[in-house]
This record gives sequence, structure tokens and C-alpha cells, in this order.
Amino acid sequence: MHEQWIAVDEYITGLFPSDPALEMVLQATRAAGMPQINVSPVQGRLLHVLALACGARMILEIGTLAGYSAIWMARALPADGKLITLEADPKHAEVARANIAHAGLADRIEVRLGIALDVLPQLAAERKGPFDLIFIDADKTNLTTYFDWAVRLARPGSLIITDNVIRHGEVLDDSSADAGLQGVRRFNEALAADRRVTATIVQMVGIKGYDGMALAVVRE
Ligand code: SAH
Ligand code: DHB
Ligand code: MG
Repeated sequence: MHEQWIAVDEYITGLFPSDPALEMVLQATRAAGMPQINVSPVQGRLLHVLALACGARMILEIGTLAGYSAIWMARALPADGKLITLEADPKHAEVARANIAHAGLADRIEVRLGIALDVLPQLAAERKGPFDLIFIDADKTNLTTYFDWAVRLARPGSLIITDNVIRHGEVLDDSSADAGLQGVRRFNEALAADRRVTATIVQMVGIKGYDGMALAVVRE
């Protein structure tokens, strides 16, 4: 099955025109020896379409890496829109800033260097937001806390997307010792019980294997 998922994912990617700036981000990620855990091209396109669908003008991302998903989402912003992306690793932030400048989005994307749990309260104190779209894609141990901050920095109707909530199906394992997996399980359960949002969880397959994203809309 896995080979077919990859072939079909590549088929979908190949249907659309290629994008040199986005391909350069993936090259730069490899060249810098950074983990290749960015969203796939098809998932990036999904984030772009969802950003357009919700008319996003303010976007928040937690977990920048080399800026791949940030560039996909920022390309959906109007000229006066803004995307703030949080990154704890100085090298990742530096590579991301270069990629973002190369993509011509330096005026629209702000990379904030810092640990998300420190920077999120700063954003609230600075009265940033409300964000129309929030993409949570950093460490998985703190997912539930990131989601609470996301709701706080959002408005009714905002869309909050959380990556990696299926983890090759390992999410079924209630005896796993893996802290990230436990964080994902806690998150999924909290999400389903969260009265502040209407949510669903989508399984996905493709070049990254088998995983999924949670989609949540903040209620009135
Ligand atoms: N969204 C990116 C991929 C992000 S990978 C894309 O699809 O292109 C996860 C990133 O989160 C890594 O760069 C990692 O350094 C960063 N990260 C991990 N823990 C973090 C934390 N506590 N605060 C901020 N960033 C963190
Ligand atoms: C990992 C992290 C991600 O955000 C992802 O999309 C895939 C894998 C990881 O840490 O292994
Ligand atoms: Mg991810």
C-alpha cells in the first residue's frame, strides 16, 4: 500500500505547476541537514486552499522548520496580511528567513525565534491577533497547551489545524512510553471534549506515510 500512497501523492503533486521557490525550500532543508519533516507538497497545497477558504488575513504557525508550510499559507494572504511563525531552533529560523526572503514574502512573514511556550504569552501580551488560521506543528508533547493558546489567540470562526495526530496509527496504543505519542493521544481526547470548538480528525496517507491532521473551528 505504502508504495501506492507515494505514487499517487506524487501523481497529485505532478498535476499542478511546480513552484521553484517552494522546491528550493526543500533543497535548502536537505542541504542544511535539517529534518525533512515539513508538510508534503499536497498537504502544503491543502493549507493554502484552507487559508483561502477562510479568507485568512492573520495566520499563526507554531513550528517553522525551513518555512515550507509558512510560505504555502502566506501565499494565500492578501497584500496587507501577516503570518507569524514560531521556531525554537536558531539555525532553523535562519534558514527559514533566507527561504522566506527568496520567496519574496519577507514583508508578510515574521519568524519569531523562541520556545513556543514562552512566545505564545508574549503574543497575547502584545495583543497580536486575532488569528484567522493557526497551524500547530512543533513538538507533540505540548499539543494540548498549544491548542489552548491557539483558541485564546483566535476569534469565533477561526480555523485551528494540528498536524501529526495519527502517527502511523500508533495513536491507538494506550500503553506507549513515547512522550510525543502520549501528547497526541491527550490532545485528541481533549479536542473531542472541547466545547469551545467544533472539530474533526482526518487520516492522511502520502509521501510522509500515514498520519493525519485535526481541524477545529472556534465556536461563537
Ligand atoms: N511546519 C513546518 C515543519 C515544522 S517541524 C513545515 O511543515 O514546513 C517542527 C519544528 O518545530 C522544528 O523546526 C522544531 O525546531 C520546532 N520546535 C520544536 N519544539 C519547539 C518549541 N517548543 N517551540 C518552538 N519551536 C519548536
Ligand atoms: C515529525 C514531526 C512532524 O511535525 C511531522 O510532520 C512528521 C514527523 C517528527 O518529529 O518525527
Ligand atoms: Mg508535522
